[in-house]
Amino acid sequence: MLRIMAIGDVTSPAAALWLSSRLWEVRRQHSIDLLLVNAENAGFIMGPSADSAKRLLEGGADVLTGGNHMLQNFSLHKTLEENPRILRPINYPAAAPGLGYTVVDAKGYRVLVLNALGRVHMDTLTDSPFTAIDAALQREKGRYDVAVLDFHAEATGEKLAIGHHLDGRVAAVFGTHTHVPTADTKILPKGTGYVSDLGMCGADGGIIGMSAESVLHRYLTSLPGKFQAAEGPMYADAVIFTVDEASGSAKAVERIRID
Ligand SMILES: [Fe+2]
Repeated sequence: MLRIMAIGDVTSPAAALWLSSRLWEVRRQHSIDLLLVNAENAGFIMGPSADSAKRLLEGGADVLTGGNHMLQNFSLHKTLEENPRILRPINYPAAAPGLGYTVVDAKGYRVLVLNALGRVHMDTLTDSPFTAIDAALQREKGRYDVAVLDFHAEATGEKLAIGHHLDGRVAAVFGTHTHVPTADTKILPKGTGYVSDLGMCGADGGIIGMSAESVLHRYLTSLPGKFQAAEGPMYADAVIFTVDEASGSAKAVERIRID
């Protein structure tokens, strides 16, 4: 069995620093063969910085995934071109820098890691994630043993739709972006492990990783303002998928919280 852990959106450079110092211990503790981290906000809001991305990879992550902010940090574009272990969503136009999927080794098995962006209540103009993923699975057929998807999206309906669309064709579909973990870990009818949202990694006590004051200012005044990272004890939400390498299907889906 392959043990694949996915950790929710890293919300600040401080969260990236904290998480990177914990990852090897977490891998050992939970016997993890492949560790995926959504680094969408690891440089604080607008994508990860190259430093935060490097720190997470050196700290024990195998692949970093992203989302709607991944390409907003222009200083990361060169790193995205150079490092296939840092992904941006696959359904960006081909001219965008970086890759939407990669194949990595886990315990001798080839794992295809995909990253895609939803289109419901998202303000990024992208192609259909459904057809982009279908095309990638077709293109890479025979070049991987197990496939997993980070679907970065706002709407749970769209997340469930992509889960069912891929059911039986990928081992795991996990949602990211909302920073709030969902309680719907399950195995879909044809064997795909699923959760609508992993949650986040960052300081507890604020509003989805940001200080309550800086977020409330926007709601109470309708004026633009700079968000600040929340302060407090760090934590990370994660889900572990136990996958049968022979069939490429999930046998267990377990939610954990790393304090
Ligand atoms: Fe996002």
